[in-house]
Amino acid sequence: MSTPLQPKSPLVIPFHSGGELLLRPLTPTKDDRQRCHNAFDRLSPEARMSRFWTRSQHLSDKVVTRLITADQIHDVVWAAIDPNRPWIPGLGGASFWSSNQPAHCAEFSITIGDHYQNQGLGTLLLALLWTIARHRDIREFVAHIRPENKPALHWLGAMGGTSKAEAGEIIVEWPLIPAQRLLASRSATQRAVGQRMKQLEPLLFPNT
Ligand SMILES: CC(C)(COP(=O)(O)OP(=O)(O)OC[C@H]1O[C@@H](n2cnc3c(N)ncnc32)[C@H](O)[C@@H]1OP(=O)(O)O)[C@@H](O)C(=O)NCCC(=O)NCCS
Repeated sequence: MSTPLQPKSPLVIPFHSGGELLLRPLTPTKDDRQRCHNAFDRLSPEARMSRFWTRSQHLSDKVVTRLITADQIHDVVWAAIDPNRPWIPGLGGASFWSSNQPAHCAEFSITIGDHYQNQGLGTLLLALLWTIARHRDIREFVAHIRPENKPALHWLGAMGGTSKAEAGEIIVEWPLIPAQRLLASRSATQRAVGQRMKQLEPLLFPNT
């Protein structure tokens, strides 16, 4: 099998009133290891539970190692960083994991720092990973959501897939349709993802 095309990175894109956002994959460096630990420490207990299913105050080194050593082909982990506020370890991060899933399927996870939620960052990172996943021939995302996590259930539930309750979690699955179809959707949530994909595709894969 030929090596999949790697997305261009880092990307620096305009974000909110004159600001910029740096988007890049996590790397197996001391710096990114520390970033992950620090970013987790800044999360509310609620956000920690929603993404990592833990009440622990600190993220284990084992989990951080998994995040920073993802192969970026089957398992892809990106962070959103504010280049002008280097003291903030990260505004958010998102990942998909296909190596432990059935063919053409990947598990999607995301965390946006509490202070940066509801500003479109989740939509941006979902669009980013959706775009990369389509280049990996992944056709479906699945997310495991806590039943109490109404914002995430509402948001990902709007992506046009199915939801089912199972042993203390809600499993949401949705097809990774192309940006053009998202843009034509009646759902404003889907159109917002489509708009971001349209912006990101030529930046990530300029030669396709
Ligand atoms: C769920 C989450 C990723 C959304 O990220 P975000 O940056 O806030 O999302 P956006 O600003 O792009 O908004 C996406 C949608 O969520 C809605 N939303 C965001 N925060 C919300 C909140 N606190 N309450 C209600 N709705 C909210 C937005 O209105 C938007 O919905 P719409 O498209 O229908 O208008 C973020 O809240 C988060 O990190 N939560 C903790 C971790 C988590 O729950 N992860 C998901 C499980 S893996």
